[in-house]
Amino acid sequence: MKHDQEDLSLKTVRIGIVGAKFAGSFHADVWKNLPGAEITAVVNRGEEARLAFQKKYGIRKAYADYRDLLADPDVDVVDVCVPNYLHGEISSAALLAGKHVICEKPFATTMEDAEKVLEAWKKSGRSYFYAEDWIFAPALKRAEAIYRSGGIGKGFYFKGKETHSGSHSPYAQTIEYCGGGAIIHLGSHPIGYFNHLLGLPSEVTGCCNGGRKDNFIHKSLEGEDWGLGVLHYPGGEKVLVEGNYITVGGMDDVVEFYGDQGVIKVELTFGSPLSVFSTKGIDYTVEKAETTVGWSRPAVGESESLGYRPELAHFLACIQGTETQIAGTTAQGGFDTFRIIHTLYRSSREGRTLPIV
Ligand SMILES: NC(=O)c1ccc[n+]([C@@H]2O[C@H](COP(=O)([O-])OP(=O)(O)OC[C@H]3O[C@@H](n4cnc5c(N)ncnc54)[C@H](O)[C@@H]3O)[C@@H](O)[C@H]2O)c1
Repeated sequence: MKHDQEDLSLKTVRIGIVGAKFAGSFHADVWKNLPGAEITAVVNRGEEARLAFQKKYGIRKAYADYRDLLADPDVDVVDVCVPNYLHGEISSAALLAGKHVICEKPFATTMEDAEKVLEAWKKSGRSYFYAEDWIFAPALKRAEAIYRSGGIGKGFYFKGKETHSGSHSPYAQTIEYCGGGAIIHLGSHPIGYFNHLLGLPSEVTGCCNGGRKDNFIHKSLEGEDWGLGVLHYPGGEKVLVEGNYITVGGMDDVVEFYGDQGVIKVELTFGSPLSVFSTKGIDYTVEKAETTVGWSRPAVGESESLGYRPELAHFLACIQGTETQIAGTTAQGGFDTFRIIHTLYRSSREGRTLPIV
């Protein structure tokens, strides 16, 4: 059954979450507190996690197979929070089943799957929302507004990185499941953000460790544990993006803008207004922190500061027809971000700068 966007403006939008782990939980925490949204179903392959999630969030239906969710008429939106290799398959199938789709990064793990999602989006007439939370993080939105208003003059160089000590997920360990290593898993954030801010670059230069023995630290990881990309823009701007798993001390997300009349620096994860010294440690400081003993900068309101709540609130408003979808979050935006990642990997392997195709 297909709903027009107008139909949904008058009623509660019914969400089906696929994936009952880390990302599924931070999405569910937002949905539970957003007026106009209701989680009607959850899908997870593992039964224990599925039932615990269903109970925790008071969800009516739970399925083991996502295809049951696609056949459920009580679901308007499929919220894809499963491992990377399933993003393309589930997104395409959900769009073709008449559902709107919200999908966690990355867009897909192969170009073939990415193209299928784009085709399904165009064919289905449904909305697709690429969930790049950095686009919605308040500090980055403020930086964007300052930059767009000319506050640092003409921007010519930009940098963005996400780094930590390695993913907890078994699905992050192989190229088949993850699509690559640190660049697709972490570097996808700055790449998606700059695709939103500046659009598609014309050329990309990639430089990544080759995986396994070639990695700095993670010798059993199939993908790279360190990767860089330089995005070359038609107007001459350069963007340096980085993803790495060689950073101890917690997840470090940093973005910088350089203009001819100023500089902007954003510390997304270590920019907390809170400083704590503890001799025994505390419950939580930032994602992936190995210790909380001594001085730390505990995160405050991560759902807001990392952009998860404003992101999902915007997607809901778009489905309800009260907001227009932000650049870089449509299926075309997600596909373009994937094209940059795909070209960066090819460039690294071939050792030369390549045009985006
Ligand atoms: N935006 C962000 O900052 C952010 C943060 C964390 C994770 N993510 C993304 O979210 C996604 C999920 O990551 P995660 O860390 O929550 O957990 P994960 O990748 O370890 O697994 C998610 C859940 O999916 C379930 N699952 C696996 N195969 C399934 C299938 N075929 N059908 C149904 N369920 C299945 C697993 O049992 C698990 O409970 C990843 O793609 C990741 O890139 C994004």
